[in-house]
Amino acid sequence: MDGVTVIDHPLVQHKLTFMRKKETSTAGFRRLLREISTLLCYEITRDLELTTERIETPMATIDAPVLEGKKLVFASILRAGNGLLEGMLDLVPSARVAHIGVYRDHDTLQAIEYFFKAPEDIGDRLVIVVDPMLATANSSIASIERLKERGAKNLRFLCLLAAPEGIERFREAHPDVPVFTAAIDERLNESGYIVPGLGDAGDRMYGTK
Ligand code: PRP
Ligand code: URA
Repeated sequence: MDGVTVIDHPLVQHKLTFMRKKETSTAGFRRLLREISTLLCYEITRDLELTTERIETPMATIDAPVLEGKKLVFASILRAGNGLLEGMLDLVPSARVAHIGVYRDHDTLQAIEYFFKAPEDIGDRLVIVVDPMLATANSSIASIERLKERGAKNLRFLCLLAAPEGIERFREAHPDVPVFTAAIDERLNESGYIVPGLGDAGDRMYGTK
């Protein structure tokens, strides 16, 4: 599908299977999400542009590659986005961080915002928006609208699982934002949950219900 990349690295797929299992503990789920997020981060940043910087090794002076441009912004859609954020910061510790607090109203499935904080100069940076789940896409569409209002121009969206219906709606709303996901599942059920999915990502991460 245009604008959608499925990250099919064997380690990602293996870890995702363990995250899906209903008997996986809260601690196990959190650890797997952190591990998987470093692999996803590696894949979503593989085309970042490089420049060179003159350095001295103990043996010689060389022009060595370093990332070009301003530091990245990782934008976490709370709560579950924080599970992806942690591992990504392990790999890119200098990234700036935006937080967008939204939850899905259980009856309407609409995204309700309760918090927003983002770097002022977000318009000059690549923004990678993270949330493990893309279901109806209400949360991700609203979060990206908010980031665009703030000035973000160059965005990517990273999730773990996506529903086909959600991807279609997301791509319609934000055709300029490429989507990276570890898997595209079968469908949404009547309550807006991804099937087969992994259940409620936030609840599984934090042991809530
Ligand atoms: C979950 C998930 C996404 C959203 C996806 O969050 O983390 O943000 O649902 O569903 P959507 O694509 O239909 O909007 P939830 O509302 O359960 O909040 P939480 O992360 O605080 O548990
Ligand atoms: N949010 C989740 O956490 N899981 C789903 O399956 C759908 C939305």
